Amino acid sequence: MSQQFSAVFVWSRNIRLFHWLNVIAVFLLMVIGVFILNSKTLGVSVDGKILLKTIHVSIGYIFGVNLLIRIALGFFGKNYERWNKTLPFQQGFATELKDFSKGEKSFYKGHNPAGKLMVAALFFLLSIQMVSGLVIAGTDIYYPPFGGYFAESIAIDKSDLTTIKPYSKVNVDEEAYKAMRAVRKPFITAHVYSFYTLLFLIPFHILGVIFTERKERTSVVSAMINGYKHLPKNGKE
Ligand code: HEM
Repeated sequence: MSQQFSAVFVWSRNIRLFHWLNVIAVFLLMVIGVFILNSKTLGVSVDGKILLKTIHVSIGYIFGVNLLIRIALGFFGKNYERWNKTLPFQQGFATELKDFSKGEKSFYKGHNPAGKLMVAALFFLLSIQMVSGLVIAGTDIYYPPFGGYFAESIAIDKSDLTTIKPYSKVNVDEEAYKAMRAVRKPFITAHVYSFYTLLFLIPFHILGVIFTERKERTSVVSAMINGYKHLPKNGKE
C-alpha cells in the first residue's frame, strides 16, 4: 500500500526570507573574504583592498540586520520561528537525540535533533562573524558602529576626524594606533577561525538536508521554498 502524505505548514515567510537572504549574503561574504584573505598573494593594491573591505562590510550590514531580525523572531515570533523549536536546549533533548539515533521516529515536523545541533552551531558562528566583523570594520576602515570611537582613539587632533582615513598615517598617534591594533587582534582571529569553521560545517548542513530528504521523503528542500512539508499521515511523529 502506498504511503499517504498531507501538506503541513512549517516554515513561515519570515524564516524562508531569512534563510535565503542569509545564504546569499554568507556566500558573497565568503567569496570577498577569500579575496581579502589572499590580497597580498593576489597583489591587490591599497585602494583595491579598501574597496573589497567596503563591499564586504556593506554586505555585512545586510547580513547583520537579517541575523538580528531572525534572533528577535526566535523570542517574539510564532511556532517554528521560536528558539524552543529551533535550538537543542529544551528539556528532553537528550532523549529526543537517543530516539533519533535509534531511528525511532519516521519524520519530524520541524528540525530533527541533528538539525537542531547544526542550526545552533551555525547561529553561534554567524553571531561571532557579525560581532567580530563590526569591530574590525571600525578598526580598519572606520565604519559604524565603532569606527567613530576608534578614529577618535587614534587621532592626534581629535577635532578633525575627517583626516583619519584607512591605511593613512595622517593625524594618527602611533602609540594609540598600536593599542587599537592590539584590541583588534582577538576579533580578527575570531573572524578568521569562525570563517574556516563555517566553511567546514556548511557542506555538512547541505549533506544533512539531502540525507533527511532521502530518508524521510518529507520535502524538506521545497519546504524552505514554499513553507510546506509533506508528512506521512500514519507515520510515527
Ligand atoms: C558569515 C559572515 C562573514 C564571513 C564568512 C566573513 C569572512 C571574512 C574573511 C574570510 C575575511 C578575511 C580575513 C582576513 O583578511 O584576515 C574577512 C575580513 C573582514 N570582514 Fe568579514 N565575514 C563575515 C561577516 C562580516 C561582517 C558582518 C562584517 C562587518 C559588518 C565583516 C567585516 C570584515 C572586515 C572589516 C574585514 C577585513 C579585515 C582585515 O583587515 O583583514 N565581516 N571576512
